[in-house]
Amino acid sequence: MNIVVVGAQWGDEGKGKLIDILSKDVDITVRYQGGSNAGHTVIVGTEHYVFHLLPSAILRKGKVCVIGNGVVVDPKALLEEIDSLKKRGIRISPQQLKIAVNSHIVMPYHRSLDGLREKMREHKIGTTGRGIGPCYADKVTRCGIRMVDLLNPRVFENKLKDNLREKNEYFKKVFNQGGFHFDEIYDEYMGYARRLKPYVCDTALYVNAEIARKKSVLFEGAQGAFLDIDFGTYPFVTSSNTMVGGVASGSGVAPVKIHKVIAAVKAYTTRVGEGPFPTEFDAKMDNEIRAKGKEFGATTGRPRRCGWFDSVLVRYAATVGGFNELAIMKLDVLDELKTIKLCKAYKYKGKTFKDYSHDYEVVCQAKPVYEEMPGWQTPLGKIRDFRKLPSQARDYINRMEELVGVPIKYISIGSERDEIIVR
Ligand code: IMO
Ligand code: MG
Repeated sequence: MNIVVVGAQWGDEGKGKLIDILSKDVDITVRYQGGSNAGHTVIVGTEHYVFHLLPSAILRKGKVCVIGNGVVVDPKALLEEIDSLKKRGIRISPQQLKIAVNSHIVMPYHRSLDGLREKMREHKIGTTGRGIGPCYADKVTRCGIRMVDLLNPRVFENKLKDNLREKNEYFKKVFNQGGFHFDEIYDEYMGYARRLKPYVCDTALYVNAEIARKKSVLFEGAQGAFLDIDFGTYPFVTSSNTMVGGVASGSGVAPVKIHKVIAAVKAYTTRVGEGPFPTEFDAKMDNEIRAKGKEFGATTGRPRRCGWFDSVLVRYAATVGGFNELAIMKLDVLDELKTIKLCKAYKYKGKTFKDYSHDYEVVCQAKPVYEEMPGWQTPLGKIRDFRKLPSQARDYINRMEELVGVPIKYISIGSERDEIIVR
């Protein structure tokens, strides 16, 4: 069985924990989009890990992790991740990690451009500053540098020279900044190439061959539905297809080989960075939930904006994402609340509607129509059986399920591996 795990909101839904759990039963875990903008947290006992480029299953011994062609790989960030795991006693061998020969490489000028473009924008996106947008832009503009190019010094030299010729002019004329020196980047990246080479292969051929041998694959989405370049709150999105559509192009595994899509959904909503957020809390409630849910970006440390659960968003995500099952994450964060609100529709200019709108003014100005439910006001962390949940918590879950129209299979009630209820 080949499964996709995606986020159904604006990222940070708890995909890391979910993937860590599900990866126990699969052979291979594949990242198919995004880059080191992702921050997937896995907690094992007292050990706390945050993965940016490495698939969250990397802690599972004997399992293979793949960084697919749809991922933009920052070699510096990736090697830092590998080295920091090594310091903690976890060695990653080429048998365990495979990187797509045709993945694109994040270059120092991508990171610079990310920051400079953001600075110049009147309406900031609030990017993670990891060079993701500029790297994907170069991929589409056809001046990107791929892993395979990096491994061939002659090709790399030519491509880097071409890029610097154009980019250095741009840095000078548009941003009034100094550019980059060929020699420095060349030497730095040749060093990365030497270290990464053992891991690089045609991962599309590898994964398809393993599927043919009846091995099971888990595709790990980064970010979330409303950060998808096509379906998200554009332009306040990331630069890749975060939804199931990204799997095929980002891994080379055809849609017919995908059997199930599981979406991670936070029991409330968070967003980091700029952009519309209809159910955002007022300042007091925002601070309360942020503190309880430790809602600070795992990549940038920025405080996440928090709000009520929005079924208009998740229902839309379920439609375009083909969700088969939901995993409700961080339900325990709501443990102390007296009442809990769920958004079931939006109201705009006197009209009520249940479908998400791509019109910027509508999403910015729409007022959520809420339903209120009583809270359970008791800790859920020790419960492992759905029937043992307080009736208010069961009602909340059942109502979420009804509003979204997709069965809820997993309910996470704590950050530890075993703090999960499977229905
Ligand atoms: P995970 O995988 C939450 C957001 C940024 C910004 C926008 C564009 O941990 O859920 P980018 O650097 O991608 O160009 O930034 O997307 N963003 C995320 N928000 N979780 C993430 O990843 C994110 N990755 C990017 O905050 O608003
Ligand atoms: Mg995250």
